[in-house]
Amino acid sequence: MDDGSVQVQVLSHPMVRARLTSLRDAETDTPAFRTLLAQLTTMLMYEALAGIDVDETTVRTPIGPCTGVRIAQPPLLVPVLRAGLGMLDAAMTLLPEAQIGFVGVARDEATARPNEYLVSLPRELAGRTVFVLDPMLATAGSMCHTLDVLARHGADDVTAVCVVGAPQGVAALQASPHRLRLVIGGIDDGLNEDSYIVPGLGDAGDRLFGPR
Ligand code: PRP
Ligand code: URA
Repeated sequence: MDDGSVQVQVLSHPMVRARLTSLRDAETDTPAFRTLLAQLTTMLMYEALAGIDVDETTVRTPIGPCTGVRIAQPPLLVPVLRAGLGMLDAAMTLLPEAQIGFVGVARDEATARPNEYLVSLPRELAGRTVFVLDPMLATAGSMCHTLDVLARHGADDVTAVCVVGAPQGVAALQASPHRLRLVIGGIDDGLNEDSYIVPGLGDAGDRLFGPR
């Protein structure tokens, strides 16, 4: 079913493009990869948070009272293990009050289908703002699985935050029954025969944490 309910936002800011270029570079080692991914996450989350609900509040500056805002309700961050963990610290730094849930999914290397090995989420997510963190959107099997899990918990306000994707992954999200926003750093040419994004950046989980 394609109900046209995926709102895709590709960030074309030069800072995002420059960091993404360095992240892709096969010469980038693990420490630098972690730093670059964190920096990209800050930029992606900043954009993803643009429409978040706020409450009015008043503070007193050294000069006098000032009306401002605060985040109305702490959102839920859901990193998709493993690679999504590389985005979590940066997202938590922006949102220290956020609650954290976890979904662990590993692609079967032969079929590229997702195998779930962990779900740790609040029981009820209706009315909660949820940000799913996963740097890679290839076939979107892992993201669609995560969205299925979130939907079973009642989630109705989901933003996927990704670094790089393939057109096939975006199409798969559009063909899914899920309504969501996708904030992403770039959409590449396609997938290779092993379902890796081309040109992509290789295996994000391995580059962050080492091969398994
Ligand atoms: C990677 C990545 C996504 C998934 C994307 O995880 O972090 O979760 O692949 O591919 P897809 O869109 O085709 O599902 P992987 O399964 O390699 O696990 P890892 O993060 O533990 O390395
Ligand atoms: N997972 C990755 O880490 N990289 C890809 O290109 C595809 C899936």
